[in-house]
Amino acid sequence: MVYLDLLLVGFGNVGRQFARLLQEKSVQLRRDYGLSWRVVGIATKRHGSAFDARGLDIVKALRLAEAGTSLDVLTGAESERLLPADASGLDLIKYATSESKLRRLQHLVLVETTLLDIQRGQPAVDHVITALRGGAHVVTANKGPVAFAHREIRSVAELAHREFLFEGAVMDGIPVFNLVRETLPVADITGFRGVVNATTNYILTAMEAGRTFAEALAEMQGAGIAEADPSFDVDGWDAAAKTAALMNVLMHGSATPRTIARTGIREITRDRVEDAMARGKRIRLVAAAERGDGHPVGHVAPEELDADDPLAHLTGMQNLLILQTDVLGSIGIHQLDGGLTQTAYALVSDLAAIARRVGRDSS
Ligand SMILES: NC(=O)c1ccc[n+]([C@@H]2O[C@H](COP(=O)([O-])OP(=O)(O)OC[C@H]3O[C@@H](n4cnc5c(N)ncnc54)[C@H](OP(=O)(O)O)[C@@H]3O)[C@@H](O)[C@H]2O)c1
Repeated sequence: MVYLDLLLVGFGNVGRQFARLLQEKSVQLRRDYGLSWRVVGIATKRHGSAFDARGLDIVKALRLAEAGTSLDVLTGAESERLLPADASGLDLIKYATSESKLRRLQHLVLVETTLLDIQRGQPAVDHVITALRGGAHVVTANKGPVAFAHREIRSVAELAHREFLFEGAVMDGIPVFNLVRETLPVADITGFRGVVNATTNYILTAMEAGRTFAEALAEMQGAGIAEADPSFDVDGWDAAAKTAALMNVLMHGSATPRTIARTGIREITRDRVEDAMARGKRIRLVAAAERGDGHPVGHVAPEELDADDPLAHLTGMQNLLILQTDVLGSIGIHQLDGGLTQTAYALVSDLAAIARRVGRDSS
């Protein structure tokens, strides 16, 4: 049996859905992966933090968070003296990694789901690096670390012999990074082209159906799908962060979201969408990269596509990523259903991969 102690830094839409799905899948994880888990710590920005090395009551934590009440009351008496009530995510990671060493608890996993910071990817990059250096594995749905610091994090993880997995960062739980790593050995990804942001695709196709930009955006915000700051979606930042992440991992790039040429959909009106449709075209926010002078170049912009372009067929929250390879031609990864459960699933599937590795290492 593999025992994983989880540290949840971020307990918002994704963090809470992950906790619910983990409970739902507990029996399967134990039966198929010999994985047993407990949550030992949770950190938020404004809703308190909690730590108990014996395991927190996750049902109670979900209840408190949903009621908007502070999580502090969950902290075990022993940790209370040592962990400040207003502990930040970084404080909790430092505390948990030192506790984990002290008590010889093994297999601590940081589950990082704080918000995307588009300036520098912080504090998520520091969370990830501190956890890896402290001996924890890391899974994240936050694009920041892989979009801003993939190379550095990769080398820290290798030195520490720990996993850094981030399947949820692009296209929720649909395998992109795992698919390439596990099933495309020695294939060279020479470029890609896709629609990778659900909110903007939902808005554009809602406008094709006669609805307004504002109505469609409000729906995505209500469903917890839009980024906390919706301008990240509308102005193309989320797509640029995903483009940088894909370039860094699949094409050995050293991009950041700020090096991606970027135009969002803010200026796209319903009239413009209807005019394109009248000419047999569809407007989609396209993210793409290709090799320039040896190194990859990425860009994000709304494009008028011919009706027979596979990207033109995407409706609602659908995403499609087309990878160009040297040996298999083009491969399409099509996401028909996206949402919070799919993102939470990416974290659960990364956890199962860690359980497999821990099991292998200790056999
Ligand atoms: N929502 C989606 O469908 C989706 C899909 C794929 C990827 N993602 C990514 O997943 C991440 C989380 O998204 P979300 O929708 O769950 O956002 P959210 O609901 O706003 O939750 C973010 C959580 O992070 C906490 N937080 C922020 N800064 C922190 C810090 N410095 N230390 C500790 N905790 C901190 C917040 O604390 P408070 O509760 O106190 O505010 C909150 O609990 C983002 O990076 C997003 O890009 C989201």
